[in-house]
Amino acid sequence: MQTETPKTIFLKDYEPTPQAIRHVRLLVDLHPTATRIVSDMQVEPRKSAPMVLHGEGLELLSVTIDGVDLADHRYSHKNDLLTIAEVPSQSFTLRIEQRCNPQANTALSGLYLTSGVYCTQMEAQGFRRFAFFHDRPDVMATYDVRIEASLAVPVLLSNGNHVRSGKIVGTDRHFAEWHDPHPKPSYLFALVAGDLAAVLDTFTTMSGRKVALGIYVEKGKEDRCGWAMESLKTSMSWDETAFGREYDLDVFNIVAVSDFNMGAMENKGLNVFNDKYILARPDTATDTDHVNIERIIAHEYFHNWTGNRITCRDWFQLCLKEGLTVFRDQEFTSDIRSRPVKRIEDVRTLRARQYPEDQGPLAHPVRPASYIEINNFYTPTVYEKGAELCRMMQTLIGKPAFRKAMDLYFDRHDGEAATVEDFVRCMADASGRDFAQFFRWYEQAGTPVVEVKTRYDAKTHVFELTLAQSTPPTPGQADKLPQHMPLALGLVGPDGSDLPLHLDGVGALNTPLIELTEATQVFRFTDVAKRPVLSLNRGFSAPVIIKGEARDDDHLFLMGHDSDGFNRWEAAQSLARDLFVKAARALGDGKPLPDAKPFAQALGRTLADPDADMAFKALMLELPSEAEVAAALRTDVNSDHVRNGRMAIRAAIARDLLPALDGAMASTRETTDYTPDTQSTGRRSLRYSALALIAAADANRGLALATVELAKPHSMTAEIGALSAVLSNGDAAPLLEQFLQRHREDHLLVDKWFMMAAHVPLPGAATRVEALLQHPLFTWTTPNRVYALIGGLSGNLAGFHAEDGAGYRVVADAIVRLNSINPQVASRMATGFRSWRQFDTARKAHAESQMRRVLATPNLSPDVFEIITRTLA
Ligand code: BES
Ligand code: ZN
Repeated sequence: MQTETPKTIFLKDYEPTPQAIRHVRLLVDLHPTATRIVSDMQVEPRKSAPMVLHGEGLELLSVTIDGVDLADHRYSHKNDLLTIAEVPSQSFTLRIEQRCNPQANTALSGLYLTSGVYCTQMEAQGFRRFAFFHDRPDVMATYDVRIEASLAVPVLLSNGNHVRSGKIVGTDRHFAEWHDPHPKPSYLFALVAGDLAAVLDTFTTMSGRKVALGIYVEKGKEDRCGWAMESLKTSMSWDETAFGREYDLDVFNIVAVSDFNMGAMENKGLNVFNDKYILARPDTATDTDHVNIERIIAHEYFHNWTGNRITCRDWFQLCLKEGLTVFRDQEFTSDIRSRPVKRIEDVRTLRARQYPEDQGPLAHPVRPASYIEINNFYTPTVYEKGAELCRMMQTLIGKPAFRKAMDLYFDRHDGEAATVEDFVRCMADASGRDFAQFFRWYEQAGTPVVEVKTRYDAKTHVFELTLAQSTPPTPGQADKLPQHMPLALGLVGPDGSDLPLHLDGVGALNTPLIELTEATQVFRFTDVAKRPVLSLNRGFSAPVIIKGEARDDDHLFLMGHDSDGFNRWEAAQSLARDLFVKAARALGDGKPLPDAKPFAQALGRTLADPDADMAFKALMLELPSEAEVAAALRTDVNSDHVRNGRMAIRAAIARDLLPALDGAMASTRETTDYTPDTQSTGRRSLRYSALALIAAADANRGLALATVELAKPHSMTAEIGALSAVLSNGDAAPLLEQFLQRHREDHLLVDKWFMMAAHVPLPGAATRVEALLQHPLFTWTTPNRVYALIGGLSGNLAGFHAEDGAGYRVVADAIVRLNSINPQVASRMATGFRSWRQFDTARKAHAESQMRRVLATPNLSPDVFEIITRTLA
């Protein structure tokens, strides 16, 4: 059992440290099991108080102040804190000598070894596992780093600019020195050392400075770095044009490693990446991988300004850098690819990841007020909803004012550790608008619901729109106040064109946007000649749930006619979701399935539309997920009914569309070499969505088509597209096996194989996954592999939520096992339980007893403790 309840940290308790640390000089003497670190800190006291530094799992060797060794009684080291009772009242140099063990570090936080490469991951609180420090983001210092290592470790990297390197005479060791002139918090420190290959390039900034670019990878993988390098240069130049932001060092290095908890990390001048988000060749990475790489390279690069130059005062402000940087990377992708497609994809991610969080026991505000373990707050809410808040502010004040506000933010806060208030104040100051009510979006958890009522008076030509908003209670927040929502809208006339908008009391609307601020508000549109169909929340202008009174025929009409592409897609999604929900209920009640014909016909018209692009058609064919259906059912969910109902309706739709789907296959054959441009990725996404539907309609034909694709695959996109399309076919097992045999030497493709195996939507997923844990290629210490297999199982709705509880048991076993290896990975796996209360009594009982078993584990990490206790509460 947990001996002590982990401590909760509160936003309201924020206080600056009694001492600033202005400069750090580090000597890092690398050794696999005993790395010695000597840190010289230039300390500036702010007030008279003991100096209390963080330090975890470190061996303390000595403490010196201004060259004088401190006697033992002048400091104490316990509970991960080093307290120096008395320090000078004027500036002084504190030298601490300490040791850590990179080889034993399986948590992958701090300094660790991965395939012989030394690597650091300091965000959020890893630096304290490397050296004693005020390990918090508001303590910003410049750094000078000297790395010493064996000659067998030739590449020695750290932040900033390279100063010098050389051999250490009389030894088999060498050194390198780095200087980072920009003050930064400890979480942005990085060090990498190993026998790595380098791919080099240059970028000339808008002011004409030449920056040396380097991507460091495992030797032999140099031919898989081209796309990442291309993406880096595109990102650097986009930030110059879109935000006027130039890079600020002489070097920008990226390192790819294969053991990494997250996707990537924005350390100043030395980004570290999960190699999954660097390595790509047409035959090893899919279109999705290529687009992800481009996006994540951009995201980490953009942090140089939003995160690094301006950082966070404390970790409660995490959305200040993450939400904003996600918004920036979304804009980047929209600009260089397709804006409407990107918007739909982002909303899909939001609904698949953030909505379940916001509507379940783990719901928390974009800026939380408390936490136990900060690593548990790198969530879809902080990231994706955080990005939506930036987008809403841009919608409210318009793009030019938003850009002005960003300039003001960079101007005002460069070099500082800022707060969300600082950021929103820039929005207000640059636009003259009041964001007081808007700020509630940062503080209130939960997804707001907007209920729509409309009334059209054919005599007076008035269209009356009544909107009522409410936000359901979330943990710790029973009552919610009304939020400030920008709602883009259109009134669609019978011929499909938008009618002019005259808002009573306002006049003609230049921007088709209304602002909902009250709990209930009536908007009266005048001079509406015919009964219009309302198209609300166009482009998903506010991240809410619209509860409409719209009839199926209105949705069918919008699906074919709305000038807003997003709402054409949205109309299709709500129709399909309704069908799936009805089908799941019908299976429970032993009733016949609903009729999918009208929907299938409308979808057929979209497929035949010569004006719609292929990527859009593909998105229209991607019907709502099982998780979305479960969420729409809300309670007492039987996951088998959800899956079977959805599959049956999908098959019926596909049967109606067969000729069109065949046509899509014929028109998307590859005629040239692989390139991941927007056109080609769109074409392939249509091809494999179509193939998946053909397989749903006719299993044998699907299998035959997939076999052809796989015989001599055009690209990895073709291989994954074809295999994923037939996963539900029991006879596809040999194709999966063939994939493994072809690619067993490529660890990233082995991950894909484990993931597909876990996703197979046939009964018994949990048992199959349990067996795969014994597979010679499975390992518990590589996060990607665990995410593929265990994460794959929790992403398999009917597999994880199996009626006999086997899915819960296998995941709970995994959490217990991972708890002592890597708490962050363990707690990420624990979030799989977040929607357990939606399910029926038998399932809930199994889930609860498995969570209680996890909670009873000896030495449970605060990470897992927090997630499970909140999930059970
Ligand atoms: N700063 C984070 C990485 C991070 C997250 C470090 C949590 C430590 C703890 C980085 O900028 C990030 O957000 N990475 C994302 C990908 C990004 C494109 C959203 C990731 O790693 O998933
Ligand atoms: Zn980030």
